[in-house]
Amino acid sequence: MTSTLDIVILAAGKGTRMRSELPKVLHRLAGKPLLGHVVGTAHALGAAQVCVVYGFGGEAVPQALADERLTFVLQAEQHGTGHAVMQALPKLADAGVTLVLYGDVPLTRAATLEPLAAAAQAGKLGLLTVNLAQPDGYGRIVREAGRVVRIVEHKDASAAERAIEEVNTGILAVPTRPLKRWIAELKNDNVQGEYYLTDIIALAVRDGVEVETHQPAYEWEVLGVNSKVQLAELERIHQGEIARALLEAGVTLADPARLDVRGSLACGRDVAIDVNCVFEGRVELGDSVQVGANCVLRNVNIAAGTKLDAFTLIDDAEIGEAGRIGPFSRIRPGTQLARDVHVGNFVEIKNSQIDEGSKISHLSYIGDTTMGRKVNIGAGTITCNYDGANKHRTVIEDEVFVGSDTQLVAPVTVGRGATLGAGTTLTRDAPAGELTLSRAKQATIPGWKRPTKK
Ligand code: UD1
Ligand code: CA
Repeated sequence: MTSTLDIVILAAGKGTRMRSELPKVLHRLAGKPLLGHVVGTAHALGAAQVCVVYGFGGEAVPQALADERLTFVLQAEQHGTGHAVMQALPKLADAGVTLVLYGDVPLTRAATLEPLAAAAQAGKLGLLTVNLAQPDGYGRIVREAGRVVRIVEHKDASAAERAIEEVNTGILAVPTRPLKRWIAELKNDNVQGEYYLTDIIALAVRDGVEVETHQPAYEWEVLGVNSKVQLAELERIHQGEIARALLEAGVTLADPARLDVRGSLACGRDVAIDVNCVFEGRVELGDSVQVGANCVLRNVNIAAGTKLDAFTLIDDAEIGEAGRIGPFSRIRPGTQLARDVHVGNFVEIKNSQIDEGSKISHLSYIGDTTMGRKVNIGAGTITCNYDGANKHRTVIEDEVFVGSDTQLVAPVTVGRGATLGAGTTLTRDAPAGELTLSRAKQATIPGWKRPTKK
């Protein structure tokens, strides 16, 4: 039987080089706080407890992650990584193992961390190291006869030690009982006057605990964020990985470098996505869906065969099969389009249900509307859903034809098969099957002259 895994995430640092009021770990990568990525990985590892050590920014960090299953521990002053872990010790189960992660190192894969946890389960100290051609600033892994004996911080290292290319990622796993002992022994007699977590390596070696090192499959897994430059670099790396996974799943991407997924994107077969599209929240694209350039989709399901033209924005909506949307359409929350619905350029739809085969092709606002099948909405049609205080619904039944430049003043119902003449301002219900219009008779004034300047 394996002992329980507690995960401690260090997230107390200020992140001075971010030049921001926001605590570093709350800056977003792929739309989610850096810390949120690490918390997600911790849960994926099946942690019994995820303990976040926070400090800079006060309650902003616990508040931002309030809905997660987390234990928060305050490190009021930051006296080093060892001091940070010390704050969490009372929360950790003696019989378990502890894995230390960092709130500003967002992209470590669970598969890379599993062998470290396993090493700790086996009574060893699991340490994640990486070889860097430019190891400046990192703690160096000092080995004797191939075995790790200690870690020396860059600032405390000799010239010979600084030549070592194997560096400490900071990530380690260890049985909790000896961890508590070693942390209690830490001293801050170093160049930075800090309690270094890294000093536990030498203590483990002293106590005969084997140090087992592992390396990540990709260097980006252990890259931290200290500046906006590094944040932007990691964002591109992460998006590149998402794009690669989509390509491998058979999605056509016009350019994998011009795609942003900030959430989850699930695609059927033969989906094609043009350049500069942004996907937020949960987005699902059915088989053969085509997404034109510069579309923004947030919390949307798009059924099979639908084509979105360029510059379409859809937020919190359900789009049926074989639809045609865009270019320049905006579909807002609470909208459901049935199959084969056409929505054209400069059309805004909000909180409306549009049934099969209906067309709203140009320059319209449809809000709080229930629309039947095979309705044709002429250019420039507006539902006047708001009276300045309340919203009202418009009902347009099957096979209605609405002439151009019509206003439907809600609440109002247009009966099945009715026709509304162009330019109508409809303030009362229009009966089924009839032509209704509210238009002044056309007149010509004989001999009328335009005024001239006096
Ligand atoms: C640390 C390691 C170094 C390793 C490097 C990898 C130590 C002593 N050194 O150095 O061997 O190569 O990471 O990036 O551990 N933090 C707190 N509270 C504190 C201090 C730090 O929460 O009191 C957090 C910081 O917010 C940061 C992380 O721990 O996210 C690392 O701290 P930092 O001081 O930046 O350590 P490094 O000097 O990078
Ligand atoms: Ca650092």
